[in-house]
Amino acid sequence: MVKILVIHGPNLNLLGIRETEIYGNLALKDINKKLEDLAKKNGLDLEIIQSNHEGEIVESIQKSRGRIDGLIINPAAYTHTSIAIRDALLALDIPVVEVHLSNIFGREEFRTKSLISDVVSGHISGFGPNSYILGFHALLELINRGKEK
Ligand code: DQA
Repeated sequence: MVKILVIHGPNLNLLGIRETEIYGNLALKDINKKLEDLAKKNGLDLEIIQSNHEGEIVESIQKSRGRIDGLIINPAAYTHTSIAIRDALLALDIPVVEVHLSNIFGREEFRTKSLISDVVSGHISGFGPNSYILGFHALLELINRGKEK
């Protein structure tokens, strides 16, 4: 069975409470429920992790090696700072989709730089919770394309 891992980075556990004018009113559990429903519909196995700790995220990426067919990651603030997460992603040989709820290119200057965008398969940003749904479909297509080869 195809297995997908979703990693949510720091402060995303506060979705629905934190800066709702930017991130919307949906809680993380509601986004996760949408992803779980999608996974069920497509007959996929889904694992979801949220962590506020950079090292924990690095370890989750490392542990996914050989176990996961594709990864969706929103590293949140670590997007703009973490060489460690970038390096962990570089050690993976599966499709990876970077997602952001907000359009990181339309906000503060420091958010316009992602340290992972050039090492992932693709990047979706600015569609609110739908970024995850779009990311899911994009990832699935990449996984299926890989299987055809
Ligand atoms: C975010 C964008 C980041 O700049 C920010 O630090 C977040 C969330 C997003 O999903 O829009 O926490 O990754």
